[in-house]
Amino acid sequence: MNNTHPQRLERAVYSREELCGDYFILWIWDEALSKQIKPGQFFEIRAHASLTDAEDSRCLPKLFKPISVYDNSGGRIGFFIKKVGPGTIALSKLKAGDMLELIGPLGNGFPLITQRRILLVSGGIGYPPLWYLQKELINHNLIFWVHGGAGQGDVFPCDEVWTVDGSLGKKGLVTQSLKSLITEKKIDLVFSCGPMPMLKQTAAITSELGIEHYTSLEAYMACGIGVCHGCAVPIGSENAWDYLRVCKEGPVFKAEEVLWNML
Ligand SMILES: Cc1cc2nc3c(=O)[nH]c(=O)nc-3n(C[C@H](O)[C@H](O)[C@H](O)COP(=O)(O)OP(=O)(O)OC[C@H]3O[C@@H](n4cnc5c(N)ncnc54)[C@H](O)[C@@H]3O)c2cc1C
Ligand code: FES
Repeated sequence: MNNTHPQRLERAVYSREELCGDYFILWIWDEALSKQIKPGQFFEIRAHASLTDAEDSRCLPKLFKPISVYDNSGGRIGFFIKKVGPGTIALSKLKAGDMLELIGPLGNGFPLITQRRILLVSGGIGYPPLWYLQKELINHNLIFWVHGGAGQGDVFPCDEVWTVDGSLGKKGLVTQSLKSLITEKKIDLVFSCGPMPMLKQTAAITSELGIEHYTSLEAYMACGIGVCHGCAVPIGSENAWDYLRVCKEGPVFKAEEVLWNML
């Protein structure tokens, strides 16, 4: 569980790093905040109000967007972002010194486990939180990471890459190899993050094989801080379940407790 209280903060962008295609990283610097964050948590972030009024020639919209923590080390906190619409495009226009508004850290985060044989499964923009997670786990576990994307512009460093168009790595969906990978590598724990169909398929495989699995769910978020209940998903068992909020009780859930057929 997350024991820290989310704060509303204003921080300057330390730097913006351009990656391939539509991806970029925003870095901020805050040593005290850095100590409060764990892998799998996220922030609601937006360009500061001073940049969203008509006087700024960039005319950035006033939208908070949920973005996972991609990296966090000694005060250097990174957000790895894909430009998909107005909110993320606005964030991509920020430069060093521009102010960001942030609310967080939000959500529960992944459990930090030791002495296991772990498979990380990510798709698309599910990559960033698993980067931070693997950094925290790597000294205490054996880890293998598979990542899939639409094409070569959507894949990043890991152990095995899949692209839908076959432009890099293996051609197809990242879930195609999971069953044999889990068996061959004697995996006993899976962490996943990515599009819902990928998570659902991964959960079906871990359920069939009886493998422990923690999944970070995607949801459309309105408030992002537990107030509107717009992000609620059914969690529990067939006989006893409740709607839990992805932004508050999640985004990480035990895959066996997610009622996938009701999503
Ligand atoms: C907990 C959490 C963590 C996230 N972490 C990251 C991250 O680290 N990096 C990153 O780039 N993105 C992340 N996202 C997704 C990001 O929040 C959305 O891409 C962003 O809100 C889109 O806003 P926009 O205004 O740019 O585009 P919009 O106009 O809001 O959306 C553009 C397109 O993306 C789709 N979309 C928007 N939000 C979601 C969503 N939550 N799930 C699936 N499809 C969506 C819309 O249907 C639309 O097709 C995360 C989302 C959640 C819920
Ligand atoms: S987005 Fe409002 S409760 Fe989760």
